[in-house]
Amino acid sequence: MSKAAVVYWSMTGNTEAMANAVAAGAAKAGVDADLINASDFSPEKMNEYSSIAFGCPAMGDEVLEEDVFEPMFAACEPNLSGKKIALFGSYDWGDGLWMRNWDERCRAAGAQMACDFVICNLEPDEEAAEACEKLGAALA
Ligand SMILES: Cc1cc2nc3c(=O)[nH]c(=O)nc-3n(C[C@H](O)[C@H](O)[C@H](O)COP(=O)(O)O)c2cc1C
Repeated sequence: MSKAAVVYWSMTGNTEAMANAVAAGAAKAGVDADLINASDFSPEKMNEYSSIAFGCPAMGDEVLEEDVFEPMFAACEPNLSGKKIALFGSYDWGDGLWMRNWDERCRAAGAQMACDFVICNLEPDEEAAEACEKLGAALA
């Protein structure tokens, strides 16, 4: 059985709800998925997982959350080459620029994108939750 990590940061619970749906989708697809808070993840843990879904909302001015998620992700970035990953996150007033930039950054680092990123406006509705479940299944 392949093992996946769902590594997320969330302030008001929207990206956390997405992460729960990603993990549920992975489990349905037969993937053993660990839900991990961004503060508990590090580059050393990357080798334990065959795939990783990273989730972070749009923060600052269309960037990743800067105190916890960005430093953690920047530390993992050199190990992304050839790694199967997927991205998700919630936003509010923007148009998804933070995610397009993040996706580009991962591709430039040589990551193997398991599927297209999933973004949702604020709290995931049924459609967004379904998209998150599909993203989780793509980690298989
Ligand atoms: C400090 C701060 C900065 C934010 N910056 C952006 C932004 O640049 N673009 C955007 O679309 N939403 C922005 N948002 C809205 C959040 O992305 C949105 O509320 C999201 O649902 C939060 O996810 P969470 O519940 O997982 O914390 C910002 C929110 C806060 C509190």
